[in-house]
Amino acid sequence: MATSIGLVAGVHAQTKAEIEKRAHEIVAKMTLAEKIGQMSQVSIDAVCKGEDTPQGSTVALDKDKLYDVIVNYHIGSILNSPNTRARTPQWWTKTIEEIQHMAMNDTRVKIPVIYGLDQIHGGTYTAGSTIFPHEIALAASFNPAHARKMGEIAAYETRASNVPWNFSPVLDLGSDPRFPRQYEGFGEDPYVGSVFGYELVKGYEGDNNNVGDKNKLAACMKHFIGYSVPISGKDRTPAYIPMPVLLEYHAPAFQAAIDAGVHTVMINSGIINNEPVHASYNLLTKLLREDMGFDGMIVTDWEDINKLYTRDRMVPSIKEAIKASINAGVDMSMIPYDYKEFCALLTELVNEGEVPMSRIDDAVTRVIVLKLKLDLFNTPNTYAKDYPRFGSEEFKQASYDAAADAITLLKNDNQILPLRKGAKILVAGPNAVSKRSLNGGWTFSWQGEKVDEFAGDYHHILSAVEAKFGKENVSYVPGVSYTDAVEYATEYKDRFEEAVAATKNADYIVLCLGENSYCEKPGDLDDLYLNDLQTELAKEMLKTGKKVILVLSEGRPRVISKISSKVDAIVQTYLPGLFGADALANILAGEVNPSGKLPYTYPAFPNSLVPYYHKHSEEQKRSEGVYNYEGDFNPEYHFGYGLSYTTFGYSNLKIDRTSIGKDSNDDITISIDVTNTGKVAGKEVVQLYSSDLYASVIPDTKRLRRFEKIALNPNETKTVTFKLKTKDLSYIDMNNKRVIEPGDFELQIGASSNDIKDKVILTVE
Ligand code: BGC
Repeated sequence: MATSIGLVAGVHAQTKAEIEKRAHEIVAKMTLAEKIGQMSQVSIDAVCKGEDTPQGSTVALDKDKLYDVIVNYHIGSILNSPNTRARTPQWWTKTIEEIQHMAMNDTRVKIPVIYGLDQIHGGTYTAGSTIFPHEIALAASFNPAHARKMGEIAAYETRASNVPWNFSPVLDLGSDPRFPRQYEGFGEDPYVGSVFGYELVKGYEGDNNNVGDKNKLAACMKHFIGYSVPISGKDRTPAYIPMPVLLEYHAPAFQAAIDAGVHTVMINSGIINNEPVHASYNLLTKLLREDMGFDGMIVTDWEDINKLYTRDRMVPSIKEAIKASINAGVDMSMIPYDYKEFCALLTELVNEGEVPMSRIDDAVTRVIVLKLKLDLFNTPNTYAKDYPRFGSEEFKQASYDAAADAITLLKNDNQILPLRKGAKILVAGPNAVSKRSLNGGWTFSWQGEKVDEFAGDYHHILSAVEAKFGKENVSYVPGVSYTDAVEYATEYKDRFEEAVAATKNADYIVLCLGENSYCEKPGDLDDLYLNDLQTELAKEMLKTGKKVILVLSEGRPRVISKISSKVDAIVQTYLPGLFGADALANILAGEVNPSGKLPYTYPAFPNSLVPYYHKHSEEQKRSEGVYNYEGDFNPEYHFGYGLSYTTFGYSNLKIDRTSIGKDSNDDITISIDVTNTGKVAGKEVVQLYSSDLYASVIPDTKRLRRFEKIALNPNETKTVTFKLKTKDLSYIDMNNKRVIEPGDFELQIGASSNDIKDKVILTVE
């Protein structure tokens, strides 16, 4: 085994203090060039040669390029998959082993490289891995155990790929459905994001965050902070977020991940209040490090230092951009190609005294600490052969379970679902035969467009419905493609006629609409309505008078108000992953009782995009005057909403006190009995909201404070008990301080944000 300066091979790092001491010893022996190299991260495309062709792949490391990166420039980190394409665990093992071999044998310092990938819902870049539902669907399950499980499995399968660092979880607040990355996060609620974010970090890193364990890896929370709410709704465009708002809604999930011990963070590529976050000392050093207590490693997002100059024009040169960003607190630059320029310019800046040596040492020490904690010096590689549970049935079951728990029944007129056995079903729509629309972006490639190639064995909706209901009972017609052609009336006339003709012998139409896969900027939208072609297809199907079950697979809630009132049932699958179609078919057949709840507000119109937590002034009722107000809060479906094949009754709300001192640390205990009042077993998500009735900083109408998902057999009753502290009722004041004012709070328990079953007043004194 290779030894490195200041280290004895085979000795495992133990305490934080020991690790930091060893990191300091290593850093003390490094040259400036070696330090700057450790602060640099390049894309693997910069060190590869060969091609991916339909006949096969010749992509491999280019030893000369690699030598330049690793030996001449001392680069400390590599990311990404060549051509953003999934590779086998064996390919990863071998490729990264070669990189580590060079780093630990041919360099003076013998520091292992840290490799990072975006395995954000399972092994995005690992062929054969277990792809889970995206975070948005995990949130809809309202069962945080799925996030923990996905983290554990993704960590295992990523380590099987010889990769110890995952750019996940995404903790961006999903409060704007226009944003093309909404599906990557846990939805619109800060509390849900905190609970799920915490569990996902623990799944990746383990209970004790011992990331040296070869079944665990270092997580990377992202994209700090306020990334998801640009004014335009488009990726990487400016946001305006007052500090109290940033702290109240955007910070909690990141704070929860820090509390969970997350080792690294990636920065928001955008601009907040006219300041790029990558150059914000205030956000990176003051807020993240000093106030929120993050002491891990800060990495930029893709090329974002350069963008301070090339895109944002904050500074007139790349050199100034590097200075601004490193001095703001960035430890590692995802360069990702022009490493020579980054290294040369940062060296100049240090020599000129523009970036203090202390800042460089701080950054490099954090990188080395991370590598020590991952035990990369002693075990630079992990091997596919040592991970026998990779892609196993057990892992697949976990992905299926998450999908089955997430899929959300939004409408079920006259109990049309479950579908009766032997019924004739026409499956229609572009999503019916698409695995892309079930898995979304970040699935075997960046945009998810290669999913059919890698997921050939898994069902799409049509094949899952055929398997469940019998091929003889199921027919299929695509109807339309995703193309946004406006001339659908003429161009698609034939297709519509074909689709209408196909309905002739059907009892039910399972109409599969939504979105194709996308991520980041390519997913930007000009119109949140479901596209015209699909809407038109739905109208044609409805005209036939047949029963229409609308099945949505989509990364964000595309507006469906032109058709929603007319279809008989609506099932939201989100992006349910490789087993989403199976879970859906089981729900359609009644073998699984749906229990997902919306983790966001489903808007009814593109100009009404208000989350469930908003100010009372958003609810100025139409009936209040002679004018026809359009300002009422009236979404298509409310946050926390979802139907079941059974019904639930709520009774016997109890609270153990009617008042509490504002600084008290005592528990407030509130409970309710929930009974399955229907005929089949089912699961209910019991939700506790609070409303601060009056507050000097305008209160939200309500906020989710706790939730619990319970399973009940028919006639069974369970008591659900929640415990709160007064700090759970606090909020950020205009001085950016968390406070609680004396006054009355209404505590409400219900089945959604708009279906409160009972409530009680608690006085805070
Ligand atoms: C994305 C990040 C991702 C990075 C590396 C960027 O474009 O914004 O979320 O981690 O690429 O792939």
